[in-house]
Amino acid sequence: MKTPLQILDAFKARFGTTASICRAPGRVNLIGEHTDYNDGFVLPAAIEFYCWAAAAPRRDGKLAIHSDNFNETIEVSLDSLSPLANKHWANYPLGVAWALRRAGKPISGANVYVSGEVPLGAGLSSSAAVEVSVALALLNDRGNSVDRAELAQLCQKAENEFVGARVGIMDQFVSCYGRASHALLLDCRSLKHEFVELPANLQLVICNTMVRHELASGEYNARRAECEEGVRILRIVLPGIRALRDVTLPQLEDHRQNLSAKVFARCRHVITENARVKSAVEAFRKGDTAALGPLLQDSHRSLRDDYEVSCRELDLMVEIAAAQPGTIGARMTGGGFGGCTINLVETTAVSDFRRKVAAAYSSKIGLTPEIYVSPASEGARHIVLEENKPAR
Ligand code: GLA
Repeated sequence: MKTPLQILDAFKARFGTTASICRAPGRVNLIGEHTDYNDGFVLPAAIEFYCWAAAAPRRDGKLAIHSDNFNETIEVSLDSLSPLANKHWANYPLGVAWALRRAGKPISGANVYVSGEVPLGAGLSSSAAVEVSVALALLNDRGNSVDRAELAQLCQKAENEFVGARVGIMDQFVSCYGRASHALLLDCRSLKHEFVELPANLQLVICNTMVRHELASGEYNARRAECEEGVRILRIVLPGIRALRDVTLPQLEDHRQNLSAKVFARCRHVITENARVKSAVEAFRKGDTAALGPLLQDSHRSLRDDYEVSCRELDLMVEIAAAQPGTIGARMTGGGFGGCTINLVETTAVSDFRRKVAAAYSSKIGLTPEIYVSPASEGARHIVLEENKPAR
């Protein structure tokens, strides 16, 4: 992992000039999973793991992008941007350039050096961090004149239409808007958002199961399609609805016979999860941390049983964590099928938690989990480096 000064040095060694540098964070979602693409509510926080993008303009209309993580450079013409092979790392930054240009943003050719410290494939939004940092770097305007909501939407568009993953808006949005010590309550329909202060005596502890099941992206798109099918069928009897966000639990139950058991369960997850987000925000606001545990636990159960996006490793990690003294709540976080859990843990209990959870998990699964403790962090920005004093 390089410091920002080392990234600028590496940029100079590779491209021969100085550069400006931006960073964008990954995220952890506290609650509100698989609700964003259903026009619902989410409560993520940006974390102190960043993707850094150093960039300098070039005059020949070409875009050269070097990835530190993959140790590879690609060079393409801005006028003929099209996706590389499926799952190629460069599709994320190229997609961002493509989306910015399609939206009429004035970007020129550039040399870009991307260095990510968000663990890849762990469900902590390394992709959104790449997209947002590269977007800011390409726009090269110190972040003031770009509307952040539009920036998030353009990055989402890059992922939806260029990369081909039908993700919602949560990850890009919180990477743009994160605030230190706060989670972000986002209404994914209106994009109205509020910050929710996190209790000073609790830490966000993220446990990486170190597994990522291959079916993740296909199953993600399949869940979206099942939700859409639910809306299509429910709309026949509830003509006013646009998304699952508009359906109440009693309405869903009234029309249960119209839906397959699977689609009913998917819809029930989304509807109950939206309600849990609201209850969690209320609990944070009232300082009622005791109420958070059951909400996180119900969220996990619903993701496991109704939405079927958990897996043995995530279930075990949650079970072990929940049994530790000082754990307020635990659940899987992100898209699922592996990746991480989020745990709210009392500060005084964190070091025991780390040790005991790691030991119990590896003795059952045979893998050593990574456990990260991160404060909620600031969203994306340009970084001005003072000499000898890297801003971190
Ligand atoms: C992924 C997507 C998000 C969201 C989550 C599930 O992280 O990128 O848009 O749908 O899964 O909550």
